[in-house]
Amino acid sequence: MNNLSNKSTVQEIKARFDQDVERFSNLEVGQQTTIDASFSMELIVDSIIAYSPNLKTVLDIGCGAGNYTLKLLAKKAPLDCTLLDLSAPMLDRANERITEVNTGNVTLVEEDIRTANLQENHYCTIMAGAVLHHLRDDSDWEKVFSKLYRLLKPGGSLWISDLVAQEVPAIQQLIYDERFGNYLTLLKDESYRDKVFDYIEKEDSPRSLNFQLNLLEKVGFRKVEILHKNLCFASFGAFK
Ligand SMILES: C[S@@+](CC[C@H](N)C(=O)[O-])C[C@H]1O[C@@H](n2cnc3c(N)ncnc32)[C@H](O)[C@@H]1O
Repeated sequence: MNNLSNKSTVQEIKARFDQDVERFSNLEVGQQTTIDASFSMELIVDSIIAYSPNLKTVLDIGCGAGNYTLKLLAKKAPLDCTLLDLSAPMLDRANERITEVNTGNVTLVEEDIRTANLQENHYCTIMAGAVLHHLRDDSDWEKVFSKLYRLLKPGGSLWISDLVAQEVPAIQQLIYDERFGNYLTLLKDESYRDKVFDYIEKEDSPRSLNFQLNLLEKVGFRKVEILHKNLCFASFGAFK
């Protein structure tokens, strides 16, 4: 996963997700390749509720069809929600689903998180579900983590659930090639496993949990918290 030069461009990522709205509208059956996707989302939502009793403003980056915000609204509504995604069809679906259950403001931002112009010191919480693994080199990661820090109000929290890599090649091979490979084969078959692996190789550039936790502290977050890790998927938070 180290060669970044052949990875999908932002345009290619956008074009792919434009075609994938149905799958991402159903977390239960749509995201089975992501181990514990639904459990991680619930943990993040419950953590936000536990940590932020006065929750008002939420930013959902790479919101897709709005699964994270919808789950949060089921526990706390109304909320002022900013939904950001590269894909207009994803944003349309998210908007449809969220306005049905929310009387708060809904702002749609069709942009790359790297370049989007958003209000600083504004959000009580930011959720990033399965999106940051599209970041590429170190400076990309650092710029986006710094930006997310600036967007949060003092006392705000960032929540990430994502594909992660391991630090040590032999352990990466064990956790990802062997264990995650077996999971995918059991889910369907070997050709499905190979298809998922080829897709990840082309589109994703995940970093380790350690890398991300260290970087979150480096850009200013005063505390970080791990919620869950199962093989190559992790959920964690950071507090401004
Ligand atoms: C795997 S989906 C996850 C959707 C949603 N968070 C969920 O968990 O159901 C990733 C989403 O991130 C969006 N995305 C990818 N790269 C992005 C970027 N650089 N800026 C904003 N959105 C991005 C894609 O268009 C896609 O809708």
